[in-house]
Amino acid sequence: MCRQQAIGFFDSGLGGLSLLAAAVRQFPNERFIYLGDSANAPYGTRTADEVIRLSLDAVSLLDSRGIKALVVACNTATGAAISALRERYTFPIIGLEPALKPAADEWQGGLILVMATPVTLHSAKFNALFERFGQHAQKLPCPGLMDFVEREEFQSAALDNYLDLLFAPYHNERISAVVLGCTHYLFLREQIKARLPAGTRIFDSNRGVTRQLGRRLAEADLLALPGSTGAVEFITTADSEKAAQMQRVYSVAQRLF
Ligand code: DGL
Repeated sequence: MCRQQAIGFFDSGLGGLSLLAAAVRQFPNERFIYLGDSANAPYGTRTADEVIRLSLDAVSLLDSRGIKALVVACNTATGAAISALRERYTFPIIGLEPALKPAADEWQGGLILVMATPVTLHSAKFNALFERFGQHAQKLPCPGLMDFVEREEFQSAALDNYLDLLFAPYHNERISAVVLGCTHYLFLREQIKARLPAGTRIFDSNRGVTRQLGRRLAEADLLALPGSTGAVEFITTADSEKAAQMQRVYSVAQRLF
């Protein structure tokens, strides 16, 4: 591994672009390769074994490009496959988990809702986290919510309907925080916020992961030298329409994150 190599990012689709945009902002001299496995998305409603297999395939594609580090920009893939990935590869691997700890650390009464895919919420990794920090939290599985982002459907009657139904059971509860435990949901932050009581805090993992990425690269002496030219390359397992969509959604991410 050497400093000049790229940092690989991977997600089941377009969601991880939210984290990528934050990382590029933080490390403008780095080269990034982002792989969106949109041909196989969503991961969040598959079996854990399928997610492991797909994650290994995706990372082997990135590895063939010679990456110096990997960010698994997907809570679902992290929950199911991070151990398998760490067994196979020696480069630094940074995973993603729902930001329940920061939400619990800053708890000031009320309920913390953790929005994530069913696979994430069932994973042993997430449940160990929930055991430690989930005292005031409730799991909120959101099957199908990522599909709106994959379709670039950031505003629609169907999305409104999905979110209204999702939060309807909590109308009489005091929700104090929501954890966005899937990288796709970050694109829907405002739509989610609009359905929650004013003052509800929204947590995501972007800052924690970019900090961790910087730390791991520095420890391994792999940070790009100041003055190096940064770059971002996109790969999709789907068709050229998805590749064009990836560029558009990345532009949205650059504005938002
Ligand atoms: N973006 C992914 C995550 O962070 C998963 C969405 C999916 O493929 O279901 O969990």
